[in-house]
Amino acid sequence: MSETTMSGDDLAALEAETAAQLAAAADLRAWDAVRVGTLGKSGRLTALLKGLGAVPAEQRKERGASLNRLKQALEAAIEARRLALEEAALDARLRAERMDVSLPPRPFPPAGAEQGGIHPISRTMEELVALFGAQGFSVAEGPDIESDWHNFGALNIPEHHPARQDHDTFYLPAVDGRRPVLRTHTSPVQIRTMVTQAPPIRVIVPGRTWRADHDATHSPMFHQVEGLVIDRGITLGHLKGCLIDFLRAFFGIGDLPVRFRASYFPFTEPSMEVDIGWNRKTGELGKGGDWLEILGSGMVHPRVLANCGIDPREWQGFAFGMGIERITMLKHGMPDLRPFYESDVRWLRHWAADPLSPPSLAEGV
Ligand code: PHE
Repeated sequence: MSETTMSGDDLAALEAETAAQLAAAADLRAWDAVRVGTLGKSGRLTALLKGLGAVPAEQRKERGASLNRLKQALEAAIEARRLALEEAALDARLRAERMDVSLPPRPFPPAGAEQGGIHPISRTMEELVALFGAQGFSVAEGPDIESDWHNFGALNIPEHHPARQDHDTFYLPAVDGRRPVLRTHTSPVQIRTMVTQAPPIRVIVPGRTWRADHDATHSPMFHQVEGLVIDRGITLGHLKGCLIDFLRAFFGIGDLPVRFRASYFPFTEPSMEVDIGWNRKTGELGKGGDWLEILGSGMVHPRVLANCGIDPREWQGFAFGMGIERITMLKHGMPDLRPFYESDVRWLRHWAADPLSPPSLAEGV
């Protein structure tokens, strides 16, 4: 008896054998071999279907119906096994890849290997972002090469204003009759923010700044952070609260004395210099009865608001700017500014911050 003319028994046998093979297939690869051996081009069921033509006409109809039932049964069994195997594989993977979040972190890089660190300037910037972020500020940025208008004009510092001389500006060759500058402060980003964003505005601007000045406490390239708040009904009280909170948190001294002293900047009115209490002899912050100037601040000048298309009768605000090197040196008791930029590995190793403990208010900055 040839295969094509087998009775119903051969079909039952194929079904039983396939079921046994499927049960024995322990993974998807073995399962696929069973599938191909049964339903594939030269699979056993396929061979039976191909043989249907040779079946005598009077048996063909019944034989065809049986083969069809078998085909459906085999397909269902094969599919069911695939699902079971995939589920088992997923379970195994979930078990294998489970992680124990209570394990202590692995030292990285491994003990003894050289570990990189965060430069103190970058670290202070991260701290500024964390502290002002907690007060609802976001971060804005601007270019180092600025137009005269952004760096001076829009900030109410006209062409021959004496304030320009204070800045020891680096000028670049003129383009279309205008000389770009290396920004002498981060204040031009006040302008860039106000001309592109509608108030309310609450941003800080950490970044590089440039002045032709070089000694133990001045570098031609240094860093500042600017702050700008524009909203309805903003007063000097908001400015004071914001900066007192920041200074006490940054220096980690809860009762740090803070003094606001009348001053002058063309772009703020009134303007105030902010001092913190310290001991001039020992350098200790927070006590000692001496005052140390930390930053400049004031209420944004109505003319600056108007220059940016903001109506000063509706919107008010305050701004401040401080030197990042300066507050970093004071916080850590660093005596000299120059090593910040000298890439001396010994200095970096000493002052670098751990990259695995970013500043956060929860951990203390
Ligand atoms: N831009 C000023 C400076 O560089 C600091 C400042 C910023 C003062 C904002 C007031 C308001 O000296």
